[in-house]
Amino acid sequence: MHPLNKDAALSADGASCRICGSHVRPILDLGSLPPANAFVREPNEDPGRFRLLIESCDSCANIQLHDCMSIVDLYDRYAYETPDSRMLTTHYQELGTWLTALGALTPDTFVLEVGSNVGAFLLHLKSSVRRVLGIDPARNIVAIAQAKGLETVCDFFDERSADAIRRAYGVPELIIARHCMAHNPDPHRMIAGAARLLSDAGTLVIENAYALKTLESNEFDQIYHEHMFYFTVRAMRTLLEQHDLRLTHVRMAKVHGGSVVFIARRRAAHAPIETSVPEFEAREQETLPMLLGRFAENVAQTREQLRELVARLRAEGKRVCAYGASAKGNTLLNYVGLTHREIEYCIDTTPGKQGRYLPLSGIPILSEERGFGHPPDFLLLTAWNYRDEIIARIRERVGSSIRFILPIPRVHIV
Ligand code: TYD
Repeated sequence: MHPLNKDAALSADGASCRICGSHVRPILDLGSLPPANAFVREPNEDPGRFRLLIESCDSCANIQLHDCMSIVDLYDRYAYETPDSRMLTTHYQELGTWLTALGALTPDTFVLEVGSNVGAFLLHLKSSVRRVLGIDPARNIVAIAQAKGLETVCDFFDERSADAIRRAYGVPELIIARHCMAHNPDPHRMIAGAARLLSDAGTLVIENAYALKTLESNEFDQIYHEHMFYFTVRAMRTLLEQHDLRLTHVRMAKVHGGSVVFIARRRAAHAPIETSVPEFEAREQETLPMLLGRFAENVAQTREQLRELVARLRAEGKRVCAYGASAKGNTLLNYVGLTHREIEYCIDTTPGKQGRYLPLSGIPILSEERGFGHPPDFLLLTAWNYRDEIIARIRERVGSSIRFILPIPRVHIV
């Protein structure tokens, strides 16, 4: 396996912005860490380590990873399955209501979801629209969606697969790509596919973690090999415009630590641009240089604080475990340098992760049933993005004696 796509022109020098081609400068180097979803079968198994350096473009405000993994290797055996979550269900409802109000979602709409994973969002929409179709490159994940009765194509989304979809299924009026646009070294390919396939009056919806929120809340654990971009509104607009698409709306969503939802239409559709677009961009222009400037220092501080806190608790004889075998958790633990010596185990409800180990840190992953058999004193919340629902559920199940360490935005205990 050669996870780093060294031969690809896109990642060969990394010295230029992969959205607009301008010069980029380094912002933060987290060192060399294992791929964040490489949950291993043995505690000492070595999935390889690859550099995590992010850089920013002053011209279009893009923030990107310097080195990019080969997407073929990345999706060969993909571990991430959308979890069942109250927060996500609420988000799907709110998104559906908004798109309906904009006229983008009606009972007559054919919805294509790019990066549809196990189909959670499409399942939510299925009964209220004309047709739903997913496309996702991970074979093991697509099989799960298909078993739920969801039509899903197993492929990367680009101009070639867009043509194949048009021939086999027709033209979608709504294309939605949630949290997958950053998972590709060349987002131009996905946008070109959407621009080729979308109906004339159709709507493109893109949802992603929002770079400004990532920086403001010190969410450095969002940086891992799958996240090759940290999108600002300005960068997304720049990307879309190169494909004759017009960014018309921007809105924040609570999921994944603070996400942004972009809505675009064909330029030829002459759709009006909502004031949200220039408002977001004005705020970015005002705050981005300062946020980028202090990011590395904030991250280093969190590392020291978390190391010290866990060392102190261990010295006091407390048992510390983690909750959430998330990709971001692996960046956090490995960058901070916490291993199975400090963190006894990590609890996660995903059956495919249980019984495996977190890469490099060698921390075993246990089900809730096993993990709460003898509850620890402290849980480091490595899935802090589901903080409220996870804490409420655990308190109900285990009682209020258990305490939680939150690493973001600053290390604190609740
Ligand atoms: P998530 O934050 O969705 O993503 P990422 O891997 O991109 O950082 O991962 C959350 C993990 O937490 C995932 O493995 C599922 C798990 N999880 C639980 O174990 N219990 C829960 O109640 C929830 C909401 C998630």
